[in-house]
Amino acid sequence: MNHARIQSTGSYLPDSVMENAELEARVDTTDAWIRERTGIARRHIAAPEQTCSDLAQHAALNAIAAAGLQADDIDCLIVATSTPDQVFPSTACRLIERLNIPSGAIAFDVAAACSGFVYALDIAHRFIQTGGAKRALVIGAEVFSRILDWSDRSTCVLFGDGAGAVILEAAPSAGILSTHLHADGRQEPLLNVPWGISQGYENLDGGRGNVSMRGNEVFRVAVRTLGALVDETLAANDLQRGDVDWLVPHQANIRIMSATARQLGLPLERMVSTVEDHGNTSAASIPLALDCAVRDGRIQRGELLLLEAFGAGFTWGSALIRY
Ligand code: UT7
Repeated sequence: MNHARIQSTGSYLPDSVMENAELEARVDTTDAWIRERTGIARRHIAAPEQTCSDLAQHAALNAIAAAGLQADDIDCLIVATSTPDQVFPSTACRLIERLNIPSGAIAFDVAAACSGFVYALDIAHRFIQTGGAKRALVIGAEVFSRILDWSDRSTCVLFGDGAGAVILEAAPSAGILSTHLHADGRQEPLLNVPWGISQGYENLDGGRGNVSMRGNEVFRVAVRTLGALVDETLAANDLQRGDVDWLVPHQANIRIMSATARQLGLPLERMVSTVEDHGNTSAASIPLALDCAVRDGRIQRGELLLLEAFGAGFTWGSALIRY
């Protein structure tokens, strides 16, 4: 089996920033409530003409430049998203031409909601392990502003738009040490967008195309599930609490993230947090956070990273990485 390591990272955030104060004017909420309950102060919102692939393209070019590569060095492209450009072709396929990736590469989208990036990373890793690919571009990209009910204060204050990318390459020693993916659809009503193409456009009414969440119940399941996931990841690698250098969590809520850091035995300075400035960008949040901490010099080569996510499905997953 081959090994894989992260060669480079990249990210992109749309220019427009929506502060909590702007939401105070739209729904019955306050900046103080949003900050205290979620840790969010602002989020980026895509311009009306920007789609998922536009955000993904910027993040990808950023990662390709950071690696000093040409696009024709990439033979596998996976996009994790719940807000793709079109029903088909996949967002990944649409990016092939725009990024100038050679014809014949592997390209597809992954739908696992907020856990999508960890799922996509795991899949890319397996392609490299088995020799099916040499260098994979793995992107998380979302335009959640398009699936929010902007009159629903329980959801519209939480999410933002953005994209993050990593390039994974075959390597002589292991960068990705282990991945752990799980799903259970039994509690689907707690968090969903209760409409999709096969339900027919005639049934797309009354906000059925928007995020619906029973936040408090999701919160409790998320904290419990992520605690067990962290224990599973440490045990699989013979590690103790405190052995990990950085937690790079899905950025849903600062209180959920902090609970996971405590479970890991990590001080909060060792948790990468972008939730204040980005909100929850679903599948984009982990690669966005990773890229921030790589570029500002916090995360150094050789350090041990734990990536984890929990989201609709429910889906959840982690990756332990020697960076
Ligand atoms: O990324 C995928 C996974 N998603 C998550 O992991 C999100 C998990 N859930 C959460 O992050 C939190 O549950 C929320 C941030 C969504 C909500 O925080 P909470 O502390 O669980 O609040 P709550 O839902 O229990 O609501 C407390 C109160 C309620 O009022 P009453 O019933 O106590 O009078 C809500 O109606 O806060 C009210 N509320 C708000 N108030 C001001 C709900 N949303 C708002 C709001 N502004 N935006």
